[in-house]
Amino acid sequence: MRVIVCSNYDEMSKQAAKLVAGQVNLKPNCVLGLATGSTPIGLYNNLIQMSDAGDVDFSEVTTFNLDEYYPISKDNDQSYDYFMNKHLFSKVKMKNHYIPNGETSDPEKECTDYEKRIESEGGIDLQILGIGQNGHIGFNEPDINLNTVTHLTRLTESTIKANSRFFENINDVPTMALTMGIASILKSRKIILLASGRAKHKVVSELLNGEINTSIPASMLKVHPDVVLICDKEAYTSMYLGVDIGGTHIKFGVIDDENHVLYKDSIRTRKRGKAQIIMSEIGAACKEIIKKYPISGIGIGTPGIIDKKDNRVSAANLPFDNDPIVDYLKEYIDLPIYLDNDANCAALAECKAGVHEDDLLMITLGTGIGGGIILGGKIYSGKRGDAGEIGHMCIQSDGIRCSCGLVGCWEKYASVSALIEQINDAAQKNPDCIMAQIIKEENGAADGETVFKAMEKGCPVANEVFDKYLSYLATGINSVANIFRPETIVLAGGITAQGDILLKPLQKKLAANINVKISRLQNDAGIIGAALLAKLSQ
Ligand code: PGA
Repeated sequence: MRVIVCSNYDEMSKQAAKLVAGQVNLKPNCVLGLATGSTPIGLYNNLIQMSDAGDVDFSEVTTFNLDEYYPISKDNDQSYDYFMNKHLFSKVKMKNHYIPNGETSDPEKECTDYEKRIESEGGIDLQILGIGQNGHIGFNEPDINLNTVTHLTRLTESTIKANSRFFENINDVPTMALTMGIASILKSRKIILLASGRAKHKVVSELLNGEINTSIPASMLKVHPDVVLICDKEAYTSMYLGVDIGGTHIKFGVIDDENHVLYKDSIRTRKRGKAQIIMSEIGAACKEIIKKYPISGIGIGTPGIIDKKDNRVSAANLPFDNDPIVDYLKEYIDLPIYLDNDANCAALAECKAGVHEDDLLMITLGTGIGGGIILGGKIYSGKRGDAGEIGHMCIQSDGIRCSCGLVGCWEKYASVSALIEQINDAAQKNPDCIMAQIIKEENGAADGETVFKAMEKGCPVANEVFDKYLSYLATGINSVANIFRPETIVLAGGITAQGDILLKPLQKKLAANINVKISRLQNDAGIIGAALLAKLSQ
């Protein structure tokens, strides 16, 4: 099956019209197989325009429609007879057109006659098809056995529901139809299958990626030598939603097949309340996004420890206490959901969409120090799932006590919180220095930037604080580099916005051959990585 992906519905309709017009120009007395539904309307409009412009002449063309509701009178505005007259036949002069007769009292005879009529006209040269969300073509519904020739069939609930949008009441949708069979369709010399919109995305990907199966009748088209699927991006492209759960904000991002971020948003993280409530808010936000984008899967990056057995999460800064957060989310979302640690997600993002290295170590400097390890292009989190907690490696055996229970943890010295403590400490000891003045001007609250502002103003105390901080940072990096020897160490977090002011003096303190880079993706790494988790898991 050849696939043409168009940017939107109009492009899809134009492409299809070009192929149909080409067929008619090549063989003016050809036989076309036509379809109804919302999808081919744009194609028919294009054909009408081309015919009006004299680019194509349909006067010798014979057409056969795929199907018709049964029973239905021709003047019912929901009959396919009415539809075809409205959208094509009343506007373009043709030699002959046939539609299964929904008024017949003998449907069996009508079906046999219809099949014979197609044959007596020489068979269909080019068949246009739409595809139902359940994979039907014509009204060949998913079943264990598919009918080969034109037949009377019962519509499935899903088709009745899908088609109810054209009727005032779902109870008005006919439950039976006359339809060409799978073999009648496959006998056509050429086939164009049209699919548009995100509602068709699922079935299009099942069709393209799955086996031939009667549960997707359109998959039978795979045995035909000349089928072209013309679809728009929404029906074709897979998009993935990444959710990056943080202590203050929960970020959402949609990426496409090429890892471009198409959409970003965030909500504040509720400080109190149970994990279920946070996940219900995430569920509501995801639902809105899924309405707008053809999402194939959701990835979640969470801080804390994940028990890989049953995806239970415990996190210090969130009310997650051994909570099965994916199960909570599944109550709202019917899509595959994948979970990993947020730092691992960020590392995955750098591997696939940032620095593009297959062996890398990501170090996120923030309240603590997060670590994400990528080996051979894959997240390494160990069998237990909690490897990579590099913020808790010891760099001082008699050092500061950490909340994890150990002493001298790296993050107690080289995180941004640690830097702020070092700034405050030095300012207290040197109340007359420029840095202390800056803190006073900022109402007594230092932050990670204070030291840089003070250095810019030539404060020697600030220079000393920063130099010491860099030594702590370098001690940790030199140690982890010896263990993993990654191609690249990627630094992320707000402080890395300082760029070369941070990187240049840091590099001087690192062992030779350690390649440190600053994250290109920064704040987006979490959402991109979480979305990639879903993409790569499918
Ligand atoms: P639609 O229907 O074009 O209205 O989506 C297609 C089909 O059911 O075959």
